[in-house]
Amino acid sequence: MTDLDINDNVLAEVRSAADIVEVVSEHTRLKKAGRSWKGLCPFHNERTPSFTVDREKGLYHCFGCGAGGDVIHFVRQIDRLDFPEAIEALASRFGVAVPKRVSRGPRDEQREKLLAAVAAAQRFYAAELAKPGNRAAAYLEERGVPESVAKALGIGFAPPGWETLGKGLGGAWPESLLVEAGLLQPRSEGRGSYDRFRNRLVFTIRDERGRPVGFSGRALSPEDEPKYLNSPESPIFLKKRLLYGLTDAREAIRRTERTVLAEGCFDHLALYLAAVTETVASMGTALTPEQAAKLKRLAPNVVVCYDGDSAGRNAARAALPLLLAQGLEVRVARLPADEDPDDVRRRDGAEALASRIGEAPGYLAWLFEEVRPGEPRLSPEQKKDRIRSILEILSAIPDRILRYEEYRRVSEEVGVPVEILWAAEPGNRGETPGGKAAASRQAPPGVRPAGGPGTLGNASVLSGGEIPAAERRLLQLLVRGGEYISLIRGNLQSEHLTHPGVRGLVETLERSGVDPGEIDFHRFLAHLSDPSDISLISRLALDDSPEPTEEDVRRLLRELEKKYLKRETSALTKAIRQAEEVGQNEEVSRLMQRAHEIGKRMVELGR
Ligand code: UTP
Ligand code: MN
Repeated sequence: MTDLDINDNVLAEVRSAADIVEVVSEHTRLKKAGRSWKGLCPFHNERTPSFTVDREKGLYHCFGCGAGGDVIHFVRQIDRLDFPEAIEALASRFGVAVPKRVSRGPRDEQREKLLAAVAAAQRFYAAELAKPGNRAAAYLEERGVPESVAKALGIGFAPPGWETLGKGLGGAWPESLLVEAGLLQPRSEGRGSYDRFRNRLVFTIRDERGRPVGFSGRALSPEDEPKYLNSPESPIFLKKRLLYGLTDAREAIRRTERTVLAEGCFDHLALYLAAVTETVASMGTALTPEQAAKLKRLAPNVVVCYDGDSAGRNAARAALPLLLAQGLEVRVARLPADEDPDDVRRRDGAEALASRIGEAPGYLAWLFEEVRPGEPRLSPEQKKDRIRSILEILSAIPDRILRYEEYRRVSEEVGVPVEILWAAEPGNRGETPGGKAAASRQAPPGVRPAGGPGTLGNASVLSGGEIPAAERRLLQLLVRGGEYISLIRGNLQSEHLTHPGVRGLVETLERSGVDPGEIDFHRFLAHLSDPSDISLISRLALDDSPEPTEEDVRRLLRELEKKYLKRETSALTKAIRQAEEVGQNEEVSRLMQRAHEIGKRMVELGR
């Protein structure tokens, strides 16, 4: 994934270099309000500002929608980046040097060279397309693609000759490198090589970071085979992980909270021209689990927009389990039989194409139309097969309750009681979701979303259980930092706390930093990945509750300790009774001694 060594020092440096007010200001206008900044939340629609940014604390929080975190969370959330990508973006913008991983070796250097060569080829093809009177430009015009759009997407033209690219790149790279990058093809006989892409319109395929890694070349004449010629797999071009068009779609995906998934480059282009710019394409191959996981990270909703022919509809059906396994909300656009998105755009116009996306039904309604399990006059066998083919897709839904909900809808559609459908699925063993001994189901291998590096997975640490009020107030004091931290550190023991998350935070603090005034809850924050945990921390840090006095803090610490002592007392009482019952007199007197000490301490605290 990344070749960067992101350690705690790097994180601290990025956080101190990256001004959160500056970063946020690019997405919403902030106004100074007291010691913090306020503005309209860039994550939800609102008329009065509830989005707060605190420059000193390096945090933001929206009191409307609960979005919150530090500058790294902000960049992740707004640009839908994963952790290393966000660090890299901030580091390069604010001039923080991120060391490369120590193991950086010849392979990484080779990758860099391949990337540079493909980038140069991309510039070469784009320049060829810009030359007057070339065939690809004429082809684009014929298909109604404006020059400006072709340019914006980095589309190019590979001229017809056999050695134009090699010459065009001016011998800047060894021939073997250009072969590895898939730009040149070695001759089957004799020495030397020739251009892979000849007389083709070339679409630029980019990686997550927007760097060109390969091409998909469309033939310009019908007799040229194949219709699309792609770059071969290489160390930088791993097709199963890529989504074509993502770089240009990111902004729209964030805005619309959905991704439109098309099959090919021209489908992408058609949707793009119809202002459905949140489109990416899986490039003609079956959707992979990696691509589905990436979609989940981008937005909660997906609209599948594959061709209307049987190949396209089968591909859409095959994509469903992968998307459902990610917990995505899935809709499928209805396309006329045997038409693809570009056919629709050219025949009915861009608006018509856009409305097919807008009107796309939920995947289950689409499946019912496809499979027609409730069709009259089916033989029982046929009906069973059709129902099963739907249930098979639904079995990918990881949440039992949600899955049951979908079974209920199938039951209504086909008129078979839901219990029977539910029992028919192998993973369910007949129990309903409320039933005991729920069989723990597993999503198909490789499709479960994983936490990125630098996270504790997706587990909730703080919001997992209710935090008792006193511990919540303590948490607030801790995350706000400031003068009382050393008082807290001097008087609080982690046993005083019952909530594992809060206790974990206190233990982290105890271990961190020699200077008690320097609280590093950012470090803790960086290891949280559950949005509600992060939201809780940023809310506690930034809400406008009054500054506590020293007496408030002391009272809170006493309260926490008293609660702890009470828990201890009742545990001791029980232990003493048990020891008495079995006649362990020594143990009894030891426990009594401890109870006595606790009593004394209670009296002290009571004052
Ligand atoms: P299509 O044949 O549906 O092409 O293949 P298209 O997108 O409709 O393109 P136009 O409108 O005919 O120009 C869909 C995708 O499958 C891959 C390509 O990624 C293509 O965009 N494909 C198709 C290939 O890789 N090779 C081929 O020979 C054909
Ligand atoms: Mn097509």
